[in-house]
Amino acid sequence: MQIIEKKQELLTIVEACKKASKRIGLVPTMGALHEGHASLVRRAVQENDVCFVSVFVNPTQFNNKEDLEKYPRNLQRDAELLAGIGADYVFAPTPEEMYTAEEMNNTFRFDFAGLDEVMEGKMRPGHFNGVVQVVSRLFYLVQPDKAYFGEKDFQQLCIIHHMVERSSLKDTFGKLEIVDCPIVREESGLARSSRNERLSEEEKQTAVGISRVLFESLEWAKEPDATVKDVQQRVVDAINRIDGLEVEYYEIVDRTTLRETDTFENAIGCVTVYCGPVRLIDNIKY
Ligand code: PAF
Repeated sequence: MQIIEKKQELLTIVEACKKASKRIGLVPTMGALHEGHASLVRRAVQENDVCFVSVFVNPTQFNNKEDLEKYPRNLQRDAELLAGIGADYVFAPTPEEMYTAEEMNNTFRFDFAGLDEVMEGKMRPGHFNGVVQVVSRLFYLVQPDKAYFGEKDFQQLCIIHHMVERSSLKDTFGKLEIVDCPIVREESGLARSSRNERLSEEEKQTAVGISRVLFESLEWAKEPDATVKDVQQRVVDAINRIDGLEVEYYEIVDRTTLRETDTFENAIGCVTVYCGPVRLIDNIKY
């Protein structure tokens, strides 16, 4: 496995892969890899001739400086894990290699068709501009046939589908296929996340309450006369009753439009919860 730091070197390797008609799989990540990422990479290795993984903590998608500074970084450990599961190339550029000073100020603009106006988009202004900025650049550089993303960041996944399939950028990406990969959970139910590294053992036990309540809510939704509004409120109340957890939002929305819905059909519940200072997200499909 080779680690690449420079865009030019990456472009040369990609060009050689294209010339040899190799199918390219890409897994974009911000490092601090865990079993969730590993499942994406295993799939990319299986389904393509060559697998690229990017490891880049993208500064333009953080609207909170402290969150960016505290984001866990450990390239050596990530590289060992990736080599063990058969990735071919790791692209790990510096922010200066990725962006000009102007681009670093997140001047990128994109039409999200409203998908960024709710949930994470509402809470983290500019976040999805940064995500689309970096993901579109990675697609441009690596020219993958397939790119793999986890469903834990469900809104991000919807926005990337929109970018590739419906936005004004869509012709740029040719036949690129976005592959949705299911959430990977610990045995306890806790969704795997790089941010879990910042939780103490005790906080981890507490955070298990998030997925427990989400799974319970699948049963609440089946009760006669259950309404979306009631279930939404019950989830918020049940999580907030757990000492150490505080819900930022829980929204049950339509999986395609991300708009409020009053039916459980094609619905997904997306939650953001503070466990101490650590902001965790999770979701459940009804
Ligand atoms: O999901 C992530 O880790 C990031 O948002 C992504 C897609 C790698 C872009 O920086």
